[in-house]
Amino acid sequence: MCGIVGILGKDDVADRLLDGLKRLEYRGYDSAGIATVVDGAIERRRASGKLVNLGKVLAAEPLAGVTGIAHTRWATHGGPTTNNAHPHATDRVALVHNGIIENFKPLREELLARGRKLESQTDTEIVCHLVSEQIEAGLDPVEAVKVVLPRLHGAFALAILFRDHPDMLIGARLGSPLVVGYGDGETYLGSDALALAPLTQRISYLDEGDWVVLTRGGTQVYDQANNPVERAIVNSGASGQLIDKGNHRHFMAKEIYEQPIVVAQTLRAYLQRLEDKVTLPIPDFDLSVIKRVTIVACGTSYYAGMVAKYWFEQFARVAVDIDVASEFRYRAPVMEDGGLMIVISQSGETADTLAALRHAKAEGQTIAAVVNVPTSTMAREADLLLPTHAGPEIGVASTKAFTCQLAVLAALAANLAKAKGRMTPEEEKAIVAHLAEVPAALNDALGRDEAIEAMAGAVAVARDVLYLGRGTDYPLALEGALKLKEISYIHAEGYAAGEMKHGPIALIDEHVPVIVIAPSGPLFEKTVSNMQEVQARGGKVVLISDAEGIAAAGEGCIATIEMPKAHPLIAPIVYAVPVQLLAYHVAVAKGTDVDQPRNLAKSVTVE
Ligand code: M6R
Repeated sequence: MCGIVGILGKDDVADRLLDGLKRLEYRGYDSAGIATVVDGAIERRRASGKLVNLGKVLAAEPLAGVTGIAHTRWATHGGPTTNNAHPHATDRVALVHNGIIENFKPLREELLARGRKLESQTDTEIVCHLVSEQIEAGLDPVEAVKVVLPRLHGAFALAILFRDHPDMLIGARLGSPLVVGYGDGETYLGSDALALAPLTQRISYLDEGDWVVLTRGGTQVYDQANNPVERAIVNSGASGQLIDKGNHRHFMAKEIYEQPIVVAQTLRAYLQRLEDKVTLPIPDFDLSVIKRVTIVACGTSYYAGMVAKYWFEQFARVAVDIDVASEFRYRAPVMEDGGLMIVISQSGETADTLAALRHAKAEGQTIAAVVNVPTSTMAREADLLLPTHAGPEIGVASTKAFTCQLAVLAALAANLAKAKGRMTPEEEKAIVAHLAEVPAALNDALGRDEAIEAMAGAVAVARDVLYLGRGTDYPLALEGALKLKEISYIHAEGYAAGEMKHGPIALIDEHVPVIVIAPSGPLFEKTVSNMQEVQARGGKVVLISDAEGIAAAGEGCIATIEMPKAHPLIAPIVYAVPVQLLAYHVAVAKGTDVDQPRNLAKSVTVE
């Protein structure tokens, strides 16, 4: 994780570096820091905690210098202290790093054995010393970096600053993203195009293993074998505007409320309303050849994939394997020739998902990416891009990206079914009609906000909360539990309702609220039976259902959330809203940091 920025500028760079970090804070907010060269010396300002703390340090002690590097950290090696904050520095070299140096222990021991004094517990500091040693031995920065890079195992994006070469920055990447930006007499390094958006739109994406030397005389990129290479400069199209919260107290609330609009926006790209057709923006790809689908994703995106598995199997009768990305590569997955792998990711940068994508691509799978950030690595590396149009999602808890992912996956399921000859034009017309109802149904669901807020107090006092659902409501139960734990820090678990009696029901007592997601429909009665088993043991149930479901089973619940009636196809999209709102209001009631919860980062770029 972590975000890095570097500027080889014409004027003082500290303010612009700080601004770049603001755009990268989604990558981590454990600490932040900036280094520049001032009067022949490396100067640093660092602070633990959120970026606002670094802002205060800089206000108290401003930093001059026209060349600088900056970093916002998500701690991997060493706690989130100022001492462990990047940039790490010797008197000659300062360095920022995103990734993990996996062989840092032997390298660290080597350095200690040579008498180097290390000040932090980070893996990053050893890279700084390795480069420094080479420079002390008489190599110039380019030769020094060339010697050190092959010694590093793991994943890294680096930006390096040199005391004696204030008109130079060196960047390198392997496994973690890094872009070069070209401005007017200035050059930049950044973890992504968004970080550099206010500075320039002219970006080149470095390939795996590339490293780059920025000087006043020009920029030279080298590949992993140290051959000089050209990397195309493209227009990033990234917006330079910082997103604000509008009238909302938190980004998460704003993003929950944006769902009717952004899901409509997403559906517009996939539904041809006049012709009653569901289409995909990949007209040349023949879905009928797909024999098997593998879905890989993490967190909330994984739960969207779980819902899609039901749809693909039900509508297209295509077998689907689904894995959390961090497990996928390591279980020697069997992938049939002619298989389709679908990666799902809001950021398009999640390291585990990206590694799975590359693994499957190397095995000859066609890769389709359901991705929200169009400039992301996954969007660029996939064979088929199926964009969600959720717009920037800032809150760490994913909300609008999830419902937009579901909209795209429903469209993909319908197209797969058509290609396999399993959907008639009448059935397609009906699917178009149901999907077209989603924005209004989401609006309706948002109308339950006050009722949900009113009951959030009852959940906020709990130590443990269970979520139950069946069919496509089972992934929603998992998603509800994930939302609650990540932003309210309450322990929560999601279970398939029928699994309760196989163990988890032992957890039930009068202190454990049980949130049951059960729209009326084919599985309703079965879920209600499981719910009653919970109630019979003193469990306090909150039932989320429609009027019909609540009339049938609401009695005896401590609370009910009445949802609009939704067709089973769209119910998982619509029922996402109450689980999001419940987690949100519980977190607000508990006073946690809703948008930047502890220990987390928006984009998880380490394995
Ligand atoms: O960017 P991605 O969709 O690949 O991210 C995957 C997960 O890290 C993400 O969904 C995470 O679980 C969210 N914080 C959940 O709200």
